[in-house]
Amino acid sequence: MKTVGIIGAGQLARMLALAAYPLGIKTKCLSFTDENPASDVTDVIICREDDNKALKDFVNQVEVVTIETENIPLEFAKKIAADKPLYPSVETLAIAQDRLQEKQLFRSQNINTAEFFPIDSLESLKHAAKQLGFPCVLKTRFYGYDGKGQAVLTCEQDLMHAWQQLGEHPLILESFVPFELEVSLIAARNLQGQIEVYPLTRNEHQNGILRVSQAPYKHPLNELAQTQVLNLLKHLNYVGVFTVEFFIANNTLIANECAPRVHNSGHWTIEGADTSQFEQHIRAVCNLPLGSTKPKGFSLMHNCIGHMPDIEKILAIPGAHYHTYNKTPRASRKVGHVTLCGENKLEVLEQDKQITSM
Ligand SMILES: Nc1ncnc2c1ncn2[C@@H]1O[C@H](COP(=O)(O)OP(=O)(O)OP(=O)(O)O)[C@@H](O)[C@H]1O
Ligand SMILES: [Mg+2]
Repeated sequence: MKTVGIIGAGQLARMLALAAYPLGIKTKCLSFTDENPASDVTDVIICREDDNKALKDFVNQVEVVTIETENIPLEFAKKIAADKPLYPSVETLAIAQDRLQEKQLFRSQNINTAEFFPIDSLESLKHAAKQLGFPCVLKTRFYGYDGKGQAVLTCEQDLMHAWQQLGEHPLILESFVPFELEVSLIAARNLQGQIEVYPLTRNEHQNGILRVSQAPYKHPLNELAQTQVLNLLKHLNYVGVFTVEFFIANNTLIANECAPRVHNSGHWTIEGADTSQFEQHIRAVCNLPLGSTKPKGFSLMHNCIGHMPDIEKILAIPGAHYHTYNKTPRASRKVGHVTLCGENKLEVLEQDKQITSM
């Protein structure tokens, strides 16, 4: 039986492991932390920094390696890639870890982005803010997630404070995009070059954290988003599931960032599409034919942040699917999600109101 190695053992690894089982594919995770949601369903090897033995053990036990987070040391990724196929590649990881390189990649492929400047000093911050005007958004180039490591600057007085908060890290200053809505596009490519694209998903964030995703989201820019992501996959010679987050402003697509992995905005595909993003990723990295991405109806994925709603109440809703990650509840932490599926969009949106009030 083939074993796929996964770097990271959080909820994405957990759902990848669950999707691999029916295909007769085993998984094994490598984790750098003590709390590992994936450990309920698959083996997890704990690795401390520079623990070459744990790394070797892991690599020896798997045929192919993938990730649930792009934020892994590149040196580490290089060591793995020297022994086993690694998807995404070291080169793609390097780009996806760095908001600056990501935006440069988008631009090189004629994909719109917000205006941006790399920032490495208070002077460069002042200069860039003058060019972009206010509001603008200062972000750490590396290791940001769920809106962490970001500050919206509204006036000159904000510059010093933001510099004191974030100045020790490499930074990027972006123009603020007055978007009408946010969407993401998820696609997959296998080793043979077969590509399958999911329909556009609409995403709503609160305090920088994804709260709700709806799909399929019918929008005239769907086709352009698909073309852009398809070109990126080919350009990167990419294998696996890949996600691009876009803003839509003035009927224009503006790419925000990409993720070389399964994505929170694709959780609806578990019940709402012919093939889930997790199974699709496993298929892609194992060089199997990709599945249909056709949506089954309308789906709404509701992230459970801080705590899980009452399971009995959720399961009493027709078409509701409950997913707990078995994580210690903590404010601003994604601890699970609920997906509502149905034929009637308005009915599903109505059901979501019940969940919001739980
Ligand atoms: N330039 C911008 N203009 C307007 N809003 C922005 C901008 N950049 C980020 N945001 C808002 O903040 C959210 C989080 O930003 P971003 O996706 O860049 O960071 P992140 O920490 O990687 O988030 P996530 O982990 O949820 O993807 C965006 O989805 C958007 O709502
Ligand atoms: Mg984002």
